[in-house]
Amino acid sequence: MSFPWWRDAVVYEIYVRSFADASGDGVGDLAGIRERLPYLSRLGVDAIWLTPFYPSPMADGGYDVADYRGVDPLFGTLADFEALVADAHELGLKVIVDIVPNHSSSAHPWFQEALRGVGRDRYIFRDSEGGLPPNNWQSTFGGPAWTRVADGQWYLHLFAPGQPDFNWRNPVIHEEFLDILRFWLDRGVDGFRIDVAMGLYKAEDLPDVEDQSFMSRSPIWGQPEVHEVYRQWRKVLESYPGERMAVGEVWTDSAEDLARYVRPDELHQSFNFAWLQAPWSAEAFRKVIADTLATVPFATWVLSNHDVVRHRTRYETADPGTGLSRAKAALLTMLALPGSAYLYQGEELGLPEVKDIPDHARQDPVFFQSKGRLPGRDGCRVPLPWTSTGASLGFSPDGVRPWLPQPKVFAELSAERQSGDPDSTLEFYRRALACGRELLKSLPYTLEWLDSPEGALFFTRGPLICAINCGMDEVRLPPYERVLMASGPVDGDRLPPDTATWLQAS
Ligand code: GLC
Repeated sequence: MSFPWWRDAVVYEIYVRSFADASGDGVGDLAGIRERLPYLSRLGVDAIWLTPFYPSPMADGGYDVADYRGVDPLFGTLADFEALVADAHELGLKVIVDIVPNHSSSAHPWFQEALRGVGRDRYIFRDSEGGLPPNNWQSTFGGPAWTRVADGQWYLHLFAPGQPDFNWRNPVIHEEFLDILRFWLDRGVDGFRIDVAMGLYKAEDLPDVEDQSFMSRSPIWGQPEVHEVYRQWRKVLESYPGERMAVGEVWTDSAEDLARYVRPDELHQSFNFAWLQAPWSAEAFRKVIADTLATVPFATWVLSNHDVVRHRTRYETADPGTGLSRAKAALLTMLALPGSAYLYQGEELGLPEVKDIPDHARQDPVFFQSKGRLPGRDGCRVPLPWTSTGASLGFSPDGVRPWLPQPKVFAELSAERQSGDPDSTLEFYRRALACGRELLKSLPYTLEWLDSPEGALFFTRGPLICAINCGMDEVRLPPYERVLMASGPVDGDRLPPDTATWLQAS
């Protein structure tokens, strides 16, 4: 039986601004990605996901889109995009692009018209008494979710003021996004990553929230009407040849709620943030795995992305010095699970979160909107180190400084330094992905738990045993034939702490 490519795919997230800069302006671009496609092919991933590269004032790193059918000059041209897709396909890599339907940029022509009083019903404008915002909603980035315009009305922005929310109760918005999907599908994209997929609709009368969290009953997130949007999108995807897909960025607090987005006529996948949010604990991992497999038809797994602290650093917070071993062990576990895995650029180099970016260099609106109370997400967005020398460690052409400063430690972690060194994180990723490709894709989409000692988690998939030890002491492995992969030293039947292994069952 054959399955759609995305079911078991390893997808590599490219944060376009920080991957590779060919033009020499210190910002990553499409031509830079194109030059590095052979690196990604050699790494062994199946697909790339590109974060937004559309024309944008960059109030939120491109998640503020001013034109949904173009390429920002900072990143190149539409011809560069087409060349990138062609080259990727030539190498057997699928291409997923980001689509941002919850909000546009305030520079979008529709919002500019709205400011002039034309077509305000494409956005969410409201009157309000007493100089106060229409309700108590807070922006995800901090501060009120409303901004007042010159004539006294307020508009809603769940993120930065430069990101006005669309009014999805207006059919024009539906038509527009169906057309945008077709525009990129016609240019050969294999799928979409849907930004803030649980946004879009807001409860009709915009009631105050009692609790600012992502509760299933929030008037801000996850309104039932949103599902009809994805039913329509699914039909468009299916009207194209090839297995075009969509993966939603759905933040929820329950696996059941998440499952609603991936019903057979809606999105193909949604990110599984519960996996990323789980602490370093066998029990926590076991619960997320069990809940996921019990509720969604096609699981996904993700440890890092451009919005969260890199997992190497997250795991290390409680136990200094353990981060890299744990990150490698988590990778092996994630790859062994049924479903597809999303990697974030730089994790294959073992990059840590950069915590000491000086305030004057920070760019993330989260830092500014929280008035410096929160560091924001720049620490996981620092440009990649390709070489160990030069002003940008090979990210930009010689002599050019990158848009965010790179820490000294990046020189030791460069792709050039690690490539060919069997003990490096990069070579470990290459081996794991190659072995996974050969071994895992043929395995049944099921998992069976094995009895595991305290602090550890053992499961099997067909002839494969995966074992991870999250405890403080070494544990005894079940009987096996041979070690296929290990993230650390495996000695006979002993698995040390902070280590995972793939074993061939006896
Ligand atoms: C998503 C993106 C994030 C962005 C936000 C608003 O969460 O991943 O980077 O800031 O949406 O578009």
